[in-house]
Amino acid sequence: MSGPAPKSLRAERELRQHDLVVVANRLPIMQSPDAPGGWERSPGGLVASLDSVVTAMGTTWVGWSGAADGSSVPTSYGGVRLHEVSLSSDEIDQFYGGFSNGSLWPLYHDAIFVPQFDKRWWNAYVAVNQRFAEAAAKVAPNGATVWVHDYQLQLVPQMLRRLRHDVRIGFFLHIPFPAQELFLRLPWRSEITEGLLGADVVGFQTKVGAQNFRQVARRLLHSRSEGKMLDVGGRPVLVDTFPVGIDAKRVQRVASDPATIARAAAIREELGNPRTVLLGVDRLDYTKGIEVRLMAFRELLEEGRIDAADTVFVQIAQPSRDDVPGYSEIRTQVEQMAGSINGDFGRMNGAVVRYLHQGQAFEELVALYRAADVMLVTPFRDGMNLVAKEYVASRLDHTGVLILSEFTGAAHQLTEAVQVNPYDVDGLKQAIDDAVNGEDGARTKAMALLIRKVHRYDSAHWVTEFLEAMEHSR
Ligand code: G6P
Repeated sequence: MSGPAPKSLRAERELRQHDLVVVANRLPIMQSPDAPGGWERSPGGLVASLDSVVTAMGTTWVGWSGAADGSSVPTSYGGVRLHEVSLSSDEIDQFYGGFSNGSLWPLYHDAIFVPQFDKRWWNAYVAVNQRFAEAAAKVAPNGATVWVHDYQLQLVPQMLRRLRHDVRIGFFLHIPFPAQELFLRLPWRSEITEGLLGADVVGFQTKVGAQNFRQVARRLLHSRSEGKMLDVGGRPVLVDTFPVGIDAKRVQRVASDPATIARAAAIREELGNPRTVLLGVDRLDYTKGIEVRLMAFRELLEEGRIDAADTVFVQIAQPSRDDVPGYSEIRTQVEQMAGSINGDFGRMNGAVVRYLHQGQAFEELVALYRAADVMLVTPFRDGMNLVAKEYVASRLDHTGVLILSEFTGAAHQLTEAVQVNPYDVDGLKQAIDDAVNGEDGARTKAMALLIRKVHRYDSAHWVTEFLEAMEHSR
């Protein structure tokens, strides 16, 4: 069932062969007053996919600590050297909350929330990208491989190339790259495109994302393309697809730990031993479609297709980007919906929706995955969605149903999941109804196939493929 070991060994070899510098907006750890030692793992899929592979391989990671004006970041974390880039509170407002998460994030997620464009935010984005490029230029050994990540740092490849001719530069976008019509709204569309094309390899989660970007480059910069290669002033740039994977072995290890098995049983007990546990696990973000699942769940209860007496829906919503426009609104909406479902369908001895606005330790998440009969992953748009893959990897007995939005990157790979259109509430209701009330037979077969895929295309596979592509571009 496990992915072939040589892949991770190859990843290790690749990493040892050339010094690797990872450049991402966030360091793998962030300051947290509640965490032991004051530091905890940073949120989101980017860190989750990368840190297990680059840990203990002599990598340097350039990033921000999550605090204003710098903090005393440890010099290393699990063998990774950490190099902090400091942001002032104005930059946190304008670069992070503003251009990254008020302009780019909503624009790249199909403008689900209307993107705002502001010249001051853009100026801060340019300045902070320059600082990241300078930091990378400073720490990268001669001939190093520099791997830049995600939408917050799209100008870094070009800026770094100007500073250092000797390094290889890769860029990977963890979120979707939108259709041309959307991207072209961006007032600084040419600058972003040129910024990305400073890399030798530009990677996307899906084929559609890579195609969208090639189209944009041809249109805006008149770059010529042949297959996956773009010609940028005589310099070849590979634009390709590298779907991010999870550390499936780690999930499997934790899922088979007797402590996790006991915790999963205890969770079901705490929930009142219902017949069916439904689960959602997300950062509290308007892209995730949390309100759609609550709406579907409510209507199924109203129509008597799901019985509140023997069903519980657990929704973990990790706090995220509290000060960014759109986030407090979605929080209010989700909390009102959860409250009203519980008001109408709850009982003295328990709520039918258990909503936690809290992050959870990895072990607790895996116990929740084990405890859940049905996993709801219903984003309106998502670069990949690693929660879907983690749920699969934790289903050691091949039971469980994954209901997966077709607008996630994961849907391109996890074709055996129950795929839904999150805009179609009736379709989603039917999928939940079938999962709760349907037969078990075909499901275990589907889950077995999904498990094989998440192991085969795991995070080590992703890192290896990307670094090999960079190596070939040398
Ligand atoms: C997504 C993005 C990451 C980001 C993470 C957490 O996974 O792709 O780049 O770091 O969300 O968001 P935050 O704004 O807290 O860094």
